[in-house]
Amino acid sequence: MERVISAKLKEEDVVLDANLRPRCFVEYIGQEKIKENLRIAIAAAQKRGEGLDHILLYGPPGLGKTTLAHVIAAEMGINIKITSGPAIERSGDLAAILTNLHQEDILFIDEIHRLSRVVEEVLYPAMEDFALDLMIGKGAGARSLRLHLPHFTLVGATTRFAPLSPPLRDRFGAVYRLDFYDQKAMEAIVSRSARILKVEVAEGGVEEIARRARGTPRVANRLLKRVRDYAQVMAEGLITEVVAEEALARLEVDRVGLDEVDHRILNTIIKKFAGGPVGLETIAAAISEEPDTIMDVYEPYLLQLAFLERTPRGRVATRLAYEHLGLPYQKGHQQSLWGKSKG
Ligand SMILES: Nc1ncnc2c1ncn2[C@@H]1O[C@H](COP(=O)(O)OP(=O)(O)OP(=O)(O)O)[C@@H](O)[C@H]1O
Ligand SMILES: [Mg+2]
Repeated sequence: MERVISAKLKEEDVVLDANLRPRCFVEYIGQEKIKENLRIAIAAAQKRGEGLDHILLYGPPGLGKTTLAHVIAAEMGINIKITSGPAIERSGDLAAILTNLHQEDILFIDEIHRLSRVVEEVLYPAMEDFALDLMIGKGAGARSLRLHLPHFTLVGATTRFAPLSPPLRDRFGAVYRLDFYDQKAMEAIVSRSARILKVEVAEGGVEEIARRARGTPRVANRLLKRVRDYAQVMAEGLITEVVAEEALARLEVDRVGLDEVDHRILNTIIKKFAGGPVGLETIAAAISEEPDTIMDVYEPYLLQLAFLERTPRGRVATRLAYEHLGLPYQKGHQQSLWGKSKG
């Protein structure tokens, strides 16, 4: 089933993205701390006439990691080469990419947590010493040869920090965690996109779309597009608060941005497992979704809303989740979990 609020990249986004993607810091809304740190790092690197330190960007899908990597390159006025963890199958593939880089280029590796161990090992000396170690020959006659690489900047992106191996993490000079955008930033993003797409949106319409877009720019842009279609047919093109509400209700996006799958996750925890704690695998099996998808796509936003808590024994639905679903809060398991500390 197609989910309109999925933060994952879809085909329809590709065309949309080309126009809407911010190209510089001024256009890149929100993430103020990260932008400030990057501005300083860029200015310092330029003053020294050197490249930037390697940068790791992590955070849930659709928050602007790829966009930010492009912005960094544009702000520095340098080239960016793009690849991804799954695309680099053998160490030879990575060696070819590395030897084709130029001084100060950015190498962007998306989904960097999916690099294989062997490929990762080629990356270590490349990141640390700008060197490529090649083995020549086999057996007793084998020897290693060290090639020098240009000073490049690796920008890695990942939705999750935990699966990255410690040696890889350690080789990034800077690690930035992208957070969900607050309501104000989301409204600015919706307004900006509406301007670019030449869609007429009233203030209330902007607020409504922003509120239901899960703090995620990609979702905001997609909802805007869908609501625009609805408005064109039903309201002569003007997106008012009411029009936005109607359109989004029709798409089964509720007033905080949850859709049918989020509801199934919460209902499963609450109704089948008395509110939890229940393991991720068990939830995944109960609703026929991949555990990884739940972890990457659904759970971060449910945690952000404080509808879900992670405990050592599994996921627990909070009082807020019960209230949102209009269910009576039953303490059950929660009490035995938290009872001790709260008395
Ligand atoms: N800070 C921002 N301001 C305005 N628009 C943004 C911002 N960040 C992202 N966007 C919009 O959201 C879209 C998705 O962003 P992007 O592709 O960079 O996300 P991502 O974090 O790389 O996602 P994934 O994890 O799926 O690769 C962009 O095309 C852009 O239009
Ligand atoms: Mg991306």
